[in-house]
Amino acid sequence: MIKKRLIKEMGDSKRYIFGNVAAQWVALTSNIVMIFGIANLLEKMITRSADTADYIFAVVAAVCSLVIRFVCSHLQERCSYLSSRSVKKKLRELIFRKLLRLGTSYRESVPTSEIVQLSVEGVDQLETYYGQFLPQFFYAFLAPLTLFGVLCFVSVQSAVVLLICVPLIPGAIMGVQKIAKKLLGKYWGQYAELGDTFLENLQGLTTLKIYRADEYTAQKMRRESEHFRRITMKVLTMQLNSVTIMDLIAYGGAALGVVLAASAFGSGDIGFMGCFAIIMLSADFFIPMRKLGSFFHVAMNGMAASDRLFRVLDLPEPERKTGLIDRESCCIKISGLRFSYGEREVLHRIDMDIPMNGLTAICGESGCGKSTVAAILMGRNKGYSGSVTIGGTELSEISEESLMTGITYISHNSYLFKGTVRENLQIGNFEAGDSDMWAALEQAKLAEYLRSEQGLDTLLTENAGSLSGGQRQRLALARALLHDTPIYIFDEATSSVDADSEAEIMQTIYELAKTKTVIMISHRLANCANADRIYTLENGSSAGFGTHSELLSEGGAYAKMWHTQQALENVGRGEAV
Ligand SMILES: Nc1ncnc2c1ncn2[C@@H]1O[C@H](COP(=O)(O)OP(=O)(O)O)[C@@H](O)[C@H]1O
Ligand SMILES: [Mg+2]
Repeated sequence: MIKKRLIKEMGDSKRYIFGNVAAQWVALTSNIVMIFGIANLLEKMITRSADTADYIFAVVAAVCSLVIRFVCSHLQERCSYLSSRSVKKKLRELIFRKLLRLGTSYRESVPTSEIVQLSVEGVDQLETYYGQFLPQFFYAFLAPLTLFGVLCFVSVQSAVVLLICVPLIPGAIMGVQKIAKKLLGKYWGQYAELGDTFLENLQGLTTLKIYRADEYTAQKMRRESEHFRRITMKVLTMQLNSVTIMDLIAYGGAALGVVLAASAFGSGDIGFMGCFAIIMLSADFFIPMRKLGSFFHVAMNGMAASDRLFRVLDLPEPERKTGLIDRESCCIKISGLRFSYGEREVLHRIDMDIPMNGLTAICGESGCGKSTVAAILMGRNKGYSGSVTIGGTELSEISEESLMTGITYISHNSYLFKGTVRENLQIGNFEAGDSDMWAALEQAKLAEYLRSEQGLDTLLTENAGSLSGGQRQRLALARALLHDTPIYIFDEATSSVDADSEAEIMQTIYELAKTKTVIMISHRLANCANADRIYTLENGSSAGFGTHSELLSEGGAYAKMWHTQQALENVGRGEAV
């Protein structure tokens, strides 16, 4: 129930755990002194030999003991709180730092919902583990040993019997632990699964409503929660049973102490004072261990949580790289690029040459591998073969930091945050002032709309639900412009906007390409027609390169797609094909 690593990660809370144990021990010692004071007085009262000094000693011992115990109990609580606090802070920091080190591709190794559960519930479990269980663990051994030492002076036989009974409680705990470990592992597994489903359904609630699939999903979730309820009940039953067993041992042991003391007193082996002390203190032999037992489920939960925590903390991290993107020379050369998702190769020996500045389009039908190329350039898809260089440096050598300051990626659903427009724009560039922001908004053709609202202070709801698709994308564009990187990748950036917004956004992109290296990914060839060069992909292979007119006259995959799309658009406009 104690892991070396958990103690190692303890840091500051070691002190508080020690303080907690010390406070409990001092309280116990003062209790012992008080009981002996009272026992002494009672014995003397029976033999009618009590004098004033005995009365004074008993009263002073009782009062001092009460005060000391009050102070100690306060100190103990304080230590508990302080250790919880430092553990919480430390563990959450460890998790978040790990996430940062894992970088943008953390989701490949651990789902977001697990991180959320671990940093909230998981850390709470461990907080109780450090704040309550661990101190109790040490005290539960210290207290019986102290009492044994004291009661040896009264009756060695009773002290030995009581001491022998104490380990029965941890024995029972060990027995239960075997069952508990399996059960709790399952419990946490189901809990995480339920959390996963819940988060996903919540995020997709609108879609579920649209398709009237909410009832179906609710049924599914109900079944999952029912499983979770059952396993929770099993865990609780197990805990209740273990509590009953521990109670039997604890109170049975204390009763045994009373019987032993009474019979020793009856046979004249010990005096009244000794008998009274054993009777009063025998319960104290068992209470700490019994209390430890009731923290047992806390410990088990903490251990289960720590297994998950360490699994996340031990995830292999991408190695630190030192390569940089040179702003002055950042042409991109891709040669013989191959990439697989698992077993399936989706890019087959692709070559591209993207010079600095200007607009390069990558087009092809949906699923041909365009976004995969973008994800490779952004460093999100690792483990490619072949070569990709930016400004002569191999991509796999370039640090994530440098990639993020060198390339801006804009997808069709860039995330916008709840808050003001200003706050959202600041994410692009924290140094940007209001005038820079207005200039970017002007370029992205959103300034006019915002002026009619509250300007940069216009409030956005979660993921900018209060803006239209076109406005959202223009705001994302303005944020990207503020980021001011030498390379921009637009991945179907206009695929979810209206025709007017599309035209305006395209205009901004063409404008941007005069001073930056812009890669535009689109399945809609009309958007690529004016690009300086176009790469066509077909099923993950290169299928033509050139300008629009060159590719049309070649009559390859591009020309075929162009004619099909033109025909479709003409049908859309109601013209004869
Ligand atoms: N994360 C992924 N895991 C497994 N397969 C993927 C993943 N992303 C994309 N694919 C597959 O790779 C192929 C290329 O996808 P993608 O690059 O997104 O195409 P495009 O952007 O051209 O529409 C598709 O067949 C797709 O199913
Ligand atoms: Mg795509």
